[in-house]
Amino acid sequence: MCWPKRSVLVARKAKVSNDGKPLFDRVAIIGLGLIGGSMAAAIRKHGLAGEVVGFDQRQDELALGAELGVIDTAAQSLEQAVRGSDLVVLAVPVRAMRTVLESVRPFLANDAVLTDVGSTKSSFVADVEAVFGELSPYVIPGHPIAGSEKSGVRAANAELFANHKVILTPAENASQLHVQRLKSLWEGCGATVLTMSVAYHDEVLAATSHLPHLIAFSLVDTLAGEDENMDIFRYAAGGFRDFTRIAASDPVMWHDIFLSNRDAVLRVIDHFTSDLDQLRSAIASGDGETLLRVFSRAKAAREHFSKMLSGQAYVTNNIDKQVTFHLQPGGTVRGDIRVPGDKSMSHRSIMLGALAEGITEVKGFLEGEDSLATLQAFRDMGVTIEGPENGFVRIHGVGMHGLQAPRGPLYLGNSGTAMRLFTGLLAAQPFDSELTGDTSLSKRPMGRVADPLRAMGAVIDTAEGGRPPLKIRGGQKLAGIHYDMPVASAQVKSCLLLAGLYADGVTSVTEPATTRDHTERMLEGFGYHVHRDGATASVTGGGKLTAAAIDVPADISSAAFFLVAASIAEDSDLTLRHVGMNPTRVGVINILRQMGANIEVLEERVIGGEPVADLRVRSANLKGIDIPVDQVPLAIDEFPVLFIAAACAEGRTVLRGAEELRVKESDRIQVMADGLAALGVETTVTPDGIVIDGGQSIQGGTVESHEDHRISMSFAVASLRAAGPIKINDCANVATSFPGFVDLALETGIRISTEGSES
Ligand code: S3P
Repeated sequence: MCWPKRSVLVARKAKVSNDGKPLFDRVAIIGLGLIGGSMAAAIRKHGLAGEVVGFDQRQDELALGAELGVIDTAAQSLEQAVRGSDLVVLAVPVRAMRTVLESVRPFLANDAVLTDVGSTKSSFVADVEAVFGELSPYVIPGHPIAGSEKSGVRAANAELFANHKVILTPAENASQLHVQRLKSLWEGCGATVLTMSVAYHDEVLAATSHLPHLIAFSLVDTLAGEDENMDIFRYAAGGFRDFTRIAASDPVMWHDIFLSNRDAVLRVIDHFTSDLDQLRSAIASGDGETLLRVFSRAKAAREHFSKMLSGQAYVTNNIDKQVTFHLQPGGTVRGDIRVPGDKSMSHRSIMLGALAEGITEVKGFLEGEDSLATLQAFRDMGVTIEGPENGFVRIHGVGMHGLQAPRGPLYLGNSGTAMRLFTGLLAAQPFDSELTGDTSLSKRPMGRVADPLRAMGAVIDTAEGGRPPLKIRGGQKLAGIHYDMPVASAQVKSCLLLAGLYADGVTSVTEPATTRDHTERMLEGFGYHVHRDGATASVTGGGKLTAAAIDVPADISSAAFFLVAASIAEDSDLTLRHVGMNPTRVGVINILRQMGANIEVLEERVIGGEPVADLRVRSANLKGIDIPVDQVPLAIDEFPVLFIAAACAEGRTVLRGAEELRVKESDRIQVMADGLAALGVETTVTPDGIVIDGGQSIQGGTVESHEDHRISMSFAVASLRAAGPIKINDCANVATSFPGFVDLALETGIRISTEGSES
C-alpha cells in the first residue's frame, strides 16, 4: 500500500507544567463519554489545568461526571463551558461535530486552543473550515489511540492514555507554542505524542484501525447469519474471540467513522478484497506456494510490528529509538563466548539463496537489523523465507528470474552493503525498483556502484551527489564490462559481480587492494563459477545458482571489540568461539598482533568454504605501530576499536590510506577523534588517517556516536581503561550488526548499562 510520505515526530516525555504552573488555566471538555471523561480525569489527576469544566447534553452523565470527581465543574450550558477557557476539547461524536462547532463559535476566545479527539481528522478539519471559514493557528486536531469497548463517563479512567499514543495533526500555520502546550498536556496524561499530517493520519487509521473493525463486524455478522441458533459461537475457540473482540465496539461511533473517512477506507477495502481474492484463488487451485509465501510474509510482518510496538528495533527508522550506553570505568574481561554471525555473509546467504533453485538452509544467520533488512526486501519481492529462529533461516529460492516487483520502495535501514549489492541485482531485473534507507545511509555515496552499472547498460537515478534514494529502471539488457575499481571496496566488486550474473558475456572487476571475497566464495558454493586471476574476479552471465547449506561463522568484526577489550583490560583471558578467519578479514588480528597483542588461534578448520577458528586473547602491553597500508581493507570495519587499542598502547600509532573510513556509517576518523577528545585523548587527524599518541589517560565524559554502531561499541570498550564513567549517546544502531552486545559485554566484565531500549 502506498501511503503519503510520513512525517512523524516523537515528542519526548516532558515536564507536565511550566514553572510549576498548570499548562492551561481552564479546560472545557465538551462531551463526557469514555474519552472526554478519561481526559478530564487524567488532567485533574495530574494537575495539568487550573480547572476542568465539563459539558454534556445528557444531564445525567454530566451530573455523574461531577459526582465521580471526573470534572471540577459541571457547566450548565455550552456557553458557560467555553467562555473563559483557554483549551476547548471537543469529545463529541464525529457526526455531531459541525453542530457543536457552530454552538461553540460565539463563545470561543480568539486565543483559545481548540482540539478534538475523533478518529478521523479530515472531517474535523472540513467542519472547522465550514464553520469558521478557516483553520486558525489555534486549532490543533488530535486523536488519542486509546479506548475500550466500554462507554460513558462511568467508564472514565485517568490512566486510559498512559503508555498510549496520541496523534496531533497541526496544519502548517499552527502555532508551535500551542502545539507544544497541547503535547505537554497529553504527555502529562502519560501518552507519547506523534505529529503527522491529516491525510497521513487518515490513511494510516483506515488501514490499521478502521479496516480491522470493519472486518470484525462483518465476520461476526456473517457467521451469526449462517447459524441461526448461534451454535457456531458455542464452539468458537480463542482465536475467534481474539479476532472479533472489537466487534463489540459502539456501532454508532463506527458508523460515523466509516462515513467520515470514506475515501481512505474505500481504498484500503479495495486493496484488501483484491488480496483476499488472490488467496481464494490460491486455495481453489491448490497453490500452496502462494499460501506459504503470503502467510510467512505476514507472520514476519506481524513480528516486525510487535517489535516496533514493544519499542525494539527492526528495520525501522531510528527516529523513535533512543538508546544511551552508560559505562563504569575499569574491569577485567574473561569468559568463553560466541559473538553473532557474520554480517557480510548473512546478507549474501539470503541474496544467493533467494536466487537459487531449491531450498537453502542457513545456520548462524545474523539477526541484526542490517541483514534483516535484506531478508525483508526479498520477502517484499515474493520470496518465501522461513525464520530466522535462533539463526536458522530456510529460503525457498525462486531462481535467477523469479523475483517479483515489490509493492513499494525497498527500505534498507542503515545498511550500505544491502543497498550496494541490491543495486547490482535489481539493475538486471525486469521490474522498476526504488531503494531507500535511514538518515545515515541516505548520505552515503552510491555513485560508486551506479556509474559502473550504467556502463553495463543499467538505468539508475540517484538523488543529488549520487546519494539514495536510488530509482532503478527495470527491463534493461546489461552487457559485461571490465572495471578497474578506483577504491578497494568489496561492496562495489560484489555489486558488479551480481549484475554480471545477468549480463551478456563476461563481467570482470580488478581491485586496487585485496577486499573481502565472500561473494566469490559463496557463488562458488552455489555452483556458479567465479574466475579469479590475481586481483581480478570475473563471472560469465546466464548461469544458475543451486541451493546450498550455509554455516555462517561468528563475525570477526564483532569479535574485534572483545579482542581489543581483553587486550587492554588487566588480568583478562577470553575465548571467542567459531570466528570467521577469512584471510581477507583478518587485518584486525594481524594489526593487534603487531602491536603486541596476545591472541592465540585455536582449532583452525574450514566450514562451508570459509576458514573458522577459536581465538584466545589475554591482556598485553600494546605498543604503537605504523599500520601497514595493505592491512587497511582487511580491517576496514575494525578501525574504530583499533583506535581505542592505539590510545591504550605505548607510543605512537599512525594510520594512512584509510580515507574510506570517512564514508562509512559516519566519518569514522573525525567521529572517533572527537569522541577521544571528549575523553581527554588528543589525536591528529589527517585526510586519510589519524595519528594517536598512546599512553594519554582516558577520562570519563560523554561521547557522541553519531548513530554509528561501531563507534558506540568502541567507546564501550574504552571504558575498561577510563578514569571515570562514560556516557555514549545514540546507540540504538548497535542492533544493526550486534544484537545482544550489551548482555555479552556485561557477561565478559564490561560494566555497561543502557537507558532506552536496545534490541
Ligand atoms: C562489506 C564491505 C565493506 C565493509 C562493510 C561490509 C561487505 O565495505 O565496510 O561493512 O559486506 O561487502 P566497502 O566495500 O565499502 O569497503
